[in-house]
Amino acid sequence: MEQYVIKGMVPLSGEVEIGGAKNAALAVLAASIMADETVKIENVPDVRDISVLLSAMEQIGAYVHRTDRHTVLINGRNIDSLRVDYEYISKIRASYYLLGALLGKYKRAEVAFPGGCDIGSRPIDLHLKGFRSLGADVEIEHGLIMAHANHLDGGHIYLDKVSVGATINIMLASSMARGRTVIENVAKEPHVVDVANFLNSCGAHIRGAGTDVIRIDGVEKLHGTEYSIIPDQIEAGTFLCAAAATGGDITIRNVIPKHLEATNAKLIEMGCELVEYDDAVRIAAKNTLLPTSVTTLVYPGFPTDMQPQVTTVLGIANGTSVVTESIFENRYRYVDELSRMGASIQVEGNTAIIKGVEKYTGARVCAPDLRAGAALVIAGLAAEGITTVDDIYYIQRGYEDFEGKLRNLGARIEVASSEKDVRKFELKVS
Ligand code: UD1
Repeated sequence: MEQYVIKGMVPLSGEVEIGGAKNAALAVLAASIMADETVKIENVPDVRDISVLLSAMEQIGAYVHRTDRHTVLINGRNIDSLRVDYEYISKIRASYYLLGALLGKYKRAEVAFPGGCDIGSRPIDLHLKGFRSLGADVEIEHGLIMAHANHLDGGHIYLDKVSVGATINIMLASSMARGRTVIENVAKEPHVVDVANFLNSCGAHIRGAGTDVIRIDGVEKLHGTEYSIIPDQIEAGTFLCAAAATGGDITIRNVIPKHLEATNAKLIEMGCELVEYDDAVRIAAKNTLLPTSVTTLVYPGFPTDMQPQVTTVLGIANGTSVVTESIFENRYRYVDELSRMGASIQVEGNTAIIKGVEKYTGARVCAPDLRAGAALVIAGLAAEGITTVDDIYYIQRGYEDFEGKLRNLGARIEVASSEKDVRKFELKVS
């Protein structure tokens, strides 16, 4: 099993290029199978979740060809199976976007019911409610969600809770339904807008993405296009937090600063200096960080996917901070690991009370999920001594060449496959 081994306390410096947004790419790639012409998607991050989704798409007969590390050609003309097995859905929940895409295009889809929750209960009732409002029969049998309809007809759907997944999945299905669909109380995340822009570039008629109400006039066919995925606001925010935790000074490039507003605002409250350029942000962190309070909210609020990273930075701020997680119920599982590095964090329900400590100390810790894993790497970069982070499989699901990008910023971090590798690293950095 691979681990990261990190020698901390090196302030990060230099420039880092941010990749395409994983969560946007997952939805756009799934949506691509709705076209019967070739679609070219650029700025696709080379991360594990994307590879799993592409395999699921190949398994149902889609043509998938990577022309280079970040460019994929997709053609859905020869799809010959409308069933996506548990093998894929158990690895990435986002393969449920194939449900909306297949149902929209073929009016039938069978996709394994997503299981395995790592950050709390993750129901999909709103996705199914949306499909039913379009006239589909949806049943769950033998672990499969089976949805079918003779025709999908536009409907009026109110989402009881703001959900990124439900918004996108319903948008996919309704873009090839008959007539107009109105979805209210939708998610406004940048990747919702990205998926709408992509579908529109294939000939769909979607208006209002980025506001509370999306209106979709269904079309019969979608055509080929060339499309580039937006930059990853969470990867960007993770690097900003890594710079803040190490007292660093870095510039993140290829970002949309507007998407980073909530994260940037908190870093400024912590005393960091931020300068925004057209497509870059520079952060210069102070040696002493100030405490603050953070509440995760739907966009444009503070993203839940940045909560572990920001909590980790606040763990070494000069005072007491409060973080409230309002999206997922079980997103503090990394706190026990952080405590092993000296953090003083008390979790009560969805609130974490963080008493800043002077410094973290290196320890052996284990990544419980993707973003929490990235947070533990940040702690290791700031810690005195050596930290090893186990189960980096989770981190590789969503960060491309995380260690390489950090090394370019001066970090001392390597992937170790054995105890021997760890000892070699320790000798090298001692
Ligand atoms: C997406 C992101 C994930 C991010 C999350 C919130 C992808 C692949 N994943 O996940 O990284 O953390 O948005 O920004 O894009 N809910 C229901 N019923 C449903 C659907 C959701 O009650 O049918 C609830 C969830 O339990 C949660 C909230 O709605 O409390 C938000 O979930 P949602 O936005 O759907 O998250 P995902 O799309 O799964």
